Amino acid sequence: MAKTIIIGACGQIGTELVLELRKKFGNENVIAADLKDECPAVLENGPYQKMDILDREFVREYIITNEIKVVYLLAALLSATAEKNPDFAWKLNMEGLFTILDLAKEKHIDKIFWPSSIAVFGPTTPRENTPQYTVMEPSTVYGISKQAGERWCEYYFNKFGVDVRSIRYPGLISYTSLPGGGTTDYAVDIFYQAKLNKTFSCFLKEDTALPMMFMEDAIRGTIELMEAPKENIKIRSAYNLSGCSFTPKELSEEIKRHIPAFEITYNPDFRQAIADSWPMSIDDSNARKDWGWKEKYNTEKVVATMIEHVDVKLLSN
Ligand code: NAD
Ligand code: SER
Repeated sequence: MAKTIIIGACGQIGTELVLELRKKFGNENVIAADLKDECPAVLENGPYQKMDILDREFVREYIITNEIKVVYLLAALLSATAEKNPDFAWKLNMEGLFTILDLAKEKHIDKIFWPSSIAVFGPTTPRENTPQYTVMEPSTVYGISKQAGERWCEYYFNKFGVDVRSIRYPGLISYTSLPGGGTTDYAVDIFYQAKLNKTFSCFLKEDTALPMMFMEDAIRGTIELMEAPKENIKIRSAYNLSGCSFTPKELSEEIKRHIPAFEITYNPDFRQAIADSWPMSIDDSNARKDWGWKEKYNTEKVVATMIEHVDVKLLSN
């Protein structure tokens, strides 16, 4: 069994990806790695390694010595946090990728997953049903780093045969761990506040539509992409992937069906400009055609599942 590592494992995606991969491949074969001293309790069912992806020599040595063949590289600064620290965001989001791509180029690694984002699109991109191939002029440091990362992934595939696969995730909605500083985080935070206080102050305007996806769909899509036969993967930059799409007002109306007293107010901040530069909905027909992608969660199902499972105790961990 080839060993797998998830770097950035303690975050919103990593936590659930590690658990799902361990179910599939066995706890001992899936290593969680992150900058944090300790992993969350939920990941204590398998190996954990403290690791700074920016420590290139340590990462190389660890992966080569432990004969790790599959890498999911998730460590990054997300859109809102990156705008506050652009120099470091560029460094973190790019240097780690080169470390892993180079290991694959040297044949130490067989397969890489590296996530891209809807942030690769920008204000000049058609915003409705955004195509796979279109104008891409991202206006955030996060989007610029994801677009550059996509170009490098495709380059390493074309030049060196590196088997790297990627998805342009939309905003991800989950209840196992909290989101890490993105513009779409409101669509998770809203459920905690709805349960705690029955009110929510939204940092986006009521009519700001954004593409979103439930985490279970995102994890399933990621594993399906990674397991698809190599010849089916026609896109080596990153695949568009769509789940559902809604505005804060539409989301709050759906929440009200479960919590009738829920009230939302709108107090847009710097994240509004980021959201305004991103697509409202995504055309993911290439992913459907190439490797059979299909989402399971629409907005109604996302809301019902979040209302059932969100545990406000997570806020105090
Ligand atoms: P997150 O912020 O929740 O988690 C990132 C994890 O990386 C954290 O646990 C953090 O401790 C770790 N990390 C940070 N710096 C590190 C370093 N130097 N070395 C090792 N680990 C480090 O992020 P997430 O939401 O899980 O996103 C994971 C990836 O998916 C990112 O590349 C992000 O851009 C991408 N993505 C996420 C979303 C989303 O909605 N969550 C959408 C599109 C793309
Ligand atoms: N959810 C992410 C963000 O808002 C999109 O990449 O940054």
